[in-house]
Amino acid sequence: KGDPRLQAISQAIRVVPHFPKPGIMFQDITTLLLDHKAFKDTVDIFVDRYRDMGISVVAGVEARGFMFGPSIALAIGAKFVPLRKPRKLPGEVISEAYVLEYGTDCLEMHVGAVQTGERALVIDDLVATGGTLSAAIRLLGTMQA
Ligand code: PRP
Repeated sequence: KGDPRLQAISQAIRVVPHFPKPGIMFQDITTLLLDHKAFKDTVDIFVDRYRDMGISVVAGVEARGFMFGPSIALAIGAKFVPLRKPRKLPGEVISEAYVLEYGTDCLEMHVGAVQTGERALVIDDLVATGGTLSAAIRLLGTMQA
């Protein structure tokens, strides 16, 4: 709010009605990624907000958290940890289930990627019900003492 960059960022996100099913207004950030200034401004806003806060972990939620998280991590001097859908990570994982409109899904993180006491920032493209973000926070929370 009050940041002149936000309107251009908002306009760079394409809204696709009824995708992937009727009634959903899909917020398509691939058009933001095509607009260099809007893409850079988006990353810069997060970097300015979260630098110098002692954050050592940026955790990106598959799939669209992978498109913003690594750039933010590099700029704030943090490592990047992917939070993946089930059966994608090859090492030992910890899992956290979450409820979808129909059924459940799961996020997984490699054991050892995050140490107890580290401060993490979770990055994704959007929050709808909050189920995914809540699972990401629980997953990272299992690393706390
Ligand atoms: C979308 C979006 C968030 C999540 C938000 O991902 O990128 O991760 O839904 O919804 P919620 O707040 O209701 O949990 P999606 O499930 O489409 O997965 P994808 O990015 O792998 O396509």
